[in-house]
Amino acid sequence: SVKRYAENYRPQFHFSPDHNWTNDPNGLVYYQGEYHLFYQYNPYGDRWGHMSWGHAVSKDLLHWEHMPVAIEEYVDKTSGDSTMIFSGSAVADLTNTSGFFPKDSGGLVAIYTSHIHRRGQQLTQHQSIAHSSDRGRTFTRYENNPVLDIKLKDFRDPKVFWYAPEKKWVMTVVIPNRYQAQFYESKNLKDWKLLSTFGPLGDTAKIWECPDLMQVPDASDPSKKKWVLLISNSHPQGPTYVGMQYFVGNFDGKKFTPENPKQYPLYLDHGKDFYAAVSFSNVPEQDGRTIILGWANNWAYGQHIPTAPWRSAMTLPRELYLVKTASGLRLQQHPVRELATLRGDSVAMQASGETPIGKATEVEYVFTGGTATSFGITLATGANEQTRIGYDKTKGEVFVDRTASGNVSFDPAFPSIERAPASLKNGVLKLHVYIDHSIVEVYINDGDQVITDQIFPSSNYALKLWSEGGDAKTDLQIWDVKSVWP
Ligand code: FRU
Repeated sequence: SVKRYAENYRPQFHFSPDHNWTNDPNGLVYYQGEYHLFYQYNPYGDRWGHMSWGHAVSKDLLHWEHMPVAIEEYVDKTSGDSTMIFSGSAVADLTNTSGFFPKDSGGLVAIYTSHIHRRGQQLTQHQSIAHSSDRGRTFTRYENNPVLDIKLKDFRDPKVFWYAPEKKWVMTVVIPNRYQAQFYESKNLKDWKLLSTFGPLGDTAKIWECPDLMQVPDASDPSKKKWVLLISNSHPQGPTYVGMQYFVGNFDGKKFTPENPKQYPLYLDHGKDFYAAVSFSNVPEQDGRTIILGWANNWAYGQHIPTAPWRSAMTLPRELYLVKTASGLRLQQHPVRELATLRGDSVAMQASGETPIGKATEVEYVFTGGTATSFGITLATGANEQTRIGYDKTKGEVFVDRTASGNVSFDPAFPSIERAPASLKNGVLKLHVYIDHSIVEVYINDGDQVITDQIFPSSNYALKLWSEGGDAKTDLQIWDVKSVWP
C-alpha cells in the first residue's frame, strides 16, 4: 500500500479529502483561531452520493487537519425519506442571536440546503440550520427545520453574512433554473423574510448555483470596499463545462444593484477546474481580507478523474481585490499570502534547456521583450506528453493546453485548451504558475486573470522555455513548494 498523500496525482499543497468524493467547499468560517473547511462529501464512495458535510480545520488555510464528518445525510424513520446535506455556509453567532448557545456565549451555526428524496427521486429543497457549541466538532440539527421553504424543487446553496449597519443576517440563495439569486433577512437565523430577487443577468447558459454576496477591498486602498456577487454556472468557452461569473455593484441592505449591467458576463477563472468558490466568513477584521476557496474540478468529467482513493480537491485559497480598468472594476486574485511560507529551495535552470522540477513547484515567468508572436513554458512529462502554458500575442490570450498532458482519455470532455484574455503591460507579461502534481493554477499579470486546470501526467516533470515567430527575453524563477502533509 502507498503512503497517504504520496499516492499518484495527490496534491501536496492543495486540500483533498483523505479518501472518497468531494465537491463544493461549504461552511467556510474563521472561529476562535481556526479556519473551518466543511465540504460536500460522500462518506461511502468516490462518486457523488449520500451528500454530507466533511470537515477539516487549519490555522493558516494551508495545513489542514481532517476531522470526522460534521453533518450526515439522514433518513426519516416514518416516511423513509432521506435528506442529503447540500451546500451552504456557516457563521459565527458571536452574540447568540439564535439563542442556541449558553447565555453570553456564541457558537457556530451552519445553514445548508436540505435536499429531500424518496427512493432516489428528488422531492424538494429547502434551507435548514444546525448549531455547534464545540467549535464545529459536532452539530445538532434544529428541531424546527426547515427555516426557509418556498415549495420549490430547486432552491439551494444559502450563503449567510452579517450586515452590520442593520444588525441582521442576510442570506443569498439561488433558484437555479430561473437564473436568480434571492436575498433574505433574519435577526435570529430562524425566521427569514424575502428582501429582493436578482437576475437573470449575464451568463444564463447553465443553471445558477452557489451564490455569494461579499465585500471586496480595492487593491490600492483596502479600506474602500464594493459588493461583489459570485455565481457558479457556465464556462466562458460554453456550457459543456461549468464555471463562474461575477457582478460588481452596491448592496443597500435590501437590494443588490450591479454597475453597468451591459458589461456582463464577467468570469472569475478561465480554467476548466474552478467552481463553487465562496468566501470565508468572520475573517479577522484587522486583516481586512476577502478570501475565497473553490472546487478544483468540473461536473463535465469530474466523477471520472483517475485519482484514488480520493476524488477531487480544492483550489488554493485566494484573496480577492478590485482594480480599476478602462472597462470598469475587475476582480484580481492572489493565492493567500500564507502560501509564501511553503516556498522551498530555488531550482536553477539547466544549460540543456530542460530542467527537472518537482511535482510541487512554483514558477514565475516574465516575458520582458522580443519579437516572438507566442511564447511560454512547457511541462514535459513523457514522450510526446506535455502541458503547454503560454501567450499568443496575435490572439491576445494566455492559454493552457492540456490536450497531450498525460491521461486525457478517461472522459471525452477532459482534453481541452483554456484561454484567458490578456495583454502586455509596458511590454511585459507575467505568469505565476503553481504546479501541484495534478493541479495547475496560472495567475496572469498579478492575478488579473487566472486559469485553473487539472492534469494527469504519467511521469516526472521537466520545464522548458519556448518561443515562436521571433525571440523572447524572459526572467524565470523556480522554487520547490513544501508539502503540507506529514
Ligand atoms: C454545486 C452543487 C450545489 C449543490 C451541491 C450538491 O456543485 O450542485 O448546487 O448544493 O452541488 O452536492
